[in-house]
Amino acid sequence: MKNKKVITSTFLQISFSELNENDQKLISNAISSLNDAYAPYSGFLVGAAVLLDNGEIISANNQENVAYPSGLCAERVAIYYAGAKFPSIGIKTIAITAKSKKFEIKDIISPCGACSQSIAEYEVKQEGNIRILLHQSDNSVFIVESISELLPFMFKSQDLKNY
Ligand code: THU
Repeated sequence: MKNKKVITSTFLQISFSELNENDQKLISNAISSLNDAYAPYSGFLVGAAVLLDNGEIISANNQENVAYPSGLCAERVAIYYAGAKFPSIGIKTIAITAKSKKFEIKDIISPCGACSQSIAEYEVKQEGNIRILLHQSDNSVFIVESISELLPFMFKSQDLKNY
């Protein structure tokens, strides 16, 4: 192949204590929200906290259902609530954290595809990036400046347009 293109993402990983006060506060909100998750089927608790442009913080957690697909991830509960309650206020940052009641989480915690796509939609809506703080079980934090770094080939509204 002649025209090769390499696509890379940049992840910054730092320890919780190195974060600024605002980011620490947002993650702390996500951590406390996680304990209120309704996750009787998976035992996997996820907390998300969203910081809005007006300084408001909305925290949420995953909500499960015996009919599994009826449940909703923490990230979407948080951003949909933000969109419903503050429709014209932008989202600055979303912090995400997780804990399992059954095992020690070793993998990197990152939003699922549906949540990533939903975060992408809000970036389009507000015409601006949403920072993402991925809080890990070792208390380190991955920071990306936009969901496009986690989902580089995401489906965008431009894809629906006929040029
Ligand atoms: N979950 C989230 O809340 N966010 C994600 O990005 C992935 C998964 C929840 C959904 C379900 O309640 C549990 O974690 C196990 O999949």
